[in-house]
Amino acid sequence: MCQNCKEKFYITTPIYYPSDKLHIGHTYCTVATDAMARYKRLRGCDVLFLTGTDEHGQKIEDKAAAAGVTPQAFVDNIVEGERGILDLWKLMNISNDRFIRTTDDYHVASIQQIFKKMYEKGDIYKGTYSGKYCKPCESFWTESQLVDGKCPDCGREVLDAEEEAYFFRLSKYADRVQDLLENTDFLEPKSRVNEMVNNFIKPGLADLCVSRTSFTWGVPVDFDPGHVVYVWVDALFNYTTALGLYNDKYHDYDKFWPADVHFVGKEIVRFHSIIWPAMLMSMEMPLPKKVYGHGWLLLDGGKMSKSKGNVVDPYILAEKFGVDALRFFLLRSFPFGSDGNFSNELLISTINTDLANDLGNLLSRTVAMVQKYFGGKLPAEQAENAELDAPLIAMAEALRGEYEAQMEKYAFQNGLAEIFKVISRANKYIDENMPWALAKDMEQNGARLARVMYNLLETIRICGALLAPFMPETSEKILSRIGATEYAWDSLATFGVLPRDTAVVAGDALFPRIDAEKALQELEDAAAAAKKATLPDLEIEPYAEETVDFDTFCKSDFRAVKVLACEKVKKSDKLLQFTLDDGTGTPRQILSGIAKYYEPEELIGKTLLAIVNLPPRKMMGKDSCGMLLSSVHTEKGEEKLNLIMLDDKIPAGGKLC
Ligand code: ME8
Repeated sequence: MCQNCKEKFYITTPIYYPSDKLHIGHTYCTVATDAMARYKRLRGCDVLFLTGTDEHGQKIEDKAAAAGVTPQAFVDNIVEGERGILDLWKLMNISNDRFIRTTDDYHVASIQQIFKKMYEKGDIYKGTYSGKYCKPCESFWTESQLVDGKCPDCGREVLDAEEEAYFFRLSKYADRVQDLLENTDFLEPKSRVNEMVNNFIKPGLADLCVSRTSFTWGVPVDFDPGHVVYVWVDALFNYTTALGLYNDKYHDYDKFWPADVHFVGKEIVRFHSIIWPAMLMSMEMPLPKKVYGHGWLLLDGGKMSKSKGNVVDPYILAEKFGVDALRFFLLRSFPFGSDGNFSNELLISTINTDLANDLGNLLSRTVAMVQKYFGGKLPAEQAENAELDAPLIAMAEALRGEYEAQMEKYAFQNGLAEIFKVISRANKYIDENMPWALAKDMEQNGARLARVMYNLLETIRICGALLAPFMPETSEKILSRIGATEYAWDSLATFGVLPRDTAVVAGDALFPRIDAEKALQELEDAAAAAKKATLPDLEIEPYAEETVDFDTFCKSDFRAVKVLACEKVKKSDKLLQFTLDDGTGTPRQILSGIAKYYEPEELIGKTLLAIVNLPPRKMMGKDSCGMLLSSVHTEKGEEKLNLIMLDDKIPAGGKLC
């Protein structure tokens, strides 16, 4: 293990599809990777943290076409545009050292060379693909892998696909991959190993289709125009092209490859633990040391997805509760290896309990007491009480080790739990020592009180510094408030590093308590407004597919009619009763279900359009002889209706032809 050793540590997130804006689930994975990278930096490691975007494939090509822009313009907007992926990582204080886009020229050129290498070796060959393809997941499946005939990952319909294609000899590497999974710690958590071996390897690994000809938005196979490289081959090798493999953009492949860990969501473990090592074996490259498959953040028990319309927007949460609170919540509330149920209630209660109550109170009480009793600076003369001090000091000194043991297992939730045990103990220490009672006789108890305060500040120093990977800004604030200048890794397992006469600085509450009811309502309103904003401005009814023949159309008798009287029909919310001049000299009565759109008075005297040769109908016991014509459309999800109003110069009874 590295310990101030400048040992290198290379960590990656998956590269995200810029097919939609990212949601809290994507943020979860990136925040976890960031916390790990920051933890390793705190330990003194030489860290490379890579993230990026996976920009090719049919899904992106289709979305761009639907939006009427080129695929490049489409992905540029989601990656670099306002509130795009780069903006989100900046907001979330993500400390990635490198960002790769698979449309970057250097990556494209490297992928072409990698593909050719595997082809020249004979591990890629040409054949015909026929099977099932899930477009949203960009995944090929065999019949036996489908669940109820649908994609086993997302449950959606799959398409039949047949085309000339290149194949990768995945079958050739099946035994080596199985051995890797079963007999090493390559894939974690261990629970995912069985799933991979039993569901994918044991039924027989078919060779993998690695090129497509049915669309063009991908890395072209340079020796066979018309083929583009399968998006997962293009995507997986990002972890190495971003270090300079087969390109001159970067030069640290030798230093950082193999990766120490790839963090990936559980649904893409298959790609990372079977296909990825097999291709690296083909390339005769070292394998990454670990793939860690984390769980999903669920909403109402199901996976968040844009198409289900149940995504949670990280911007709204970060702006409302603060970036650090959101980062903390994501890693404190859910075990990284399993699924977790996201809810706004849990977010608010976690902030209130851990951050406002336990951590925030410890800091603000301690700083306030140092100010009140000592004018902000502790005296150097202090008196210990071994019996009262030892339990707190022992816990604070042991904390770094407990935390490290959890962090090395990627158990962020447990690492944080260790810190909060010490924070709770420190709050209890205040109650045990009753500083307010000691302060009543400063001459007698001043030195003891100073020591109590010192022990609290020193505990806060250790906890505050170990929180830095999770809440970088808060950690800095805490340390500066207690006058700590030494918080390097080595200093965190030793109690008594802070100068005895340290001075504290007053400030606002770190995390003000949140009024849960009010905040939940505001979140609901914001989500409704955001949903409305995504609705199209204007939607018109789909056009009829069936044609109507001319003679049938001509049978319809459309007439201009003038409104003589109009009133609401009693006991009906919908109906208006019209008395109309239709030019015959006998008033015509028509009932129309438009009461929600018009006040009766505003229609009197208007010239409207009616079809008058429909058979009469009874509505609420009244005759309706014809129908008034209106136009309907949808604006921002709301149905709108407008009666067709004719020029008043048109006489009642005028026939439309
Ligand atoms: O899979 N909870 O990209 P992607 C937790 N381009 N994690 C979630 C999540 C949720 N609700 N929703 C998504 C891809 N994720 C490929 C990767 S890597 C060579 C190519 C995670 O944008 C998901 O599990 O669809 C995955 O790890 C990551 O977000 C990227 O998903």
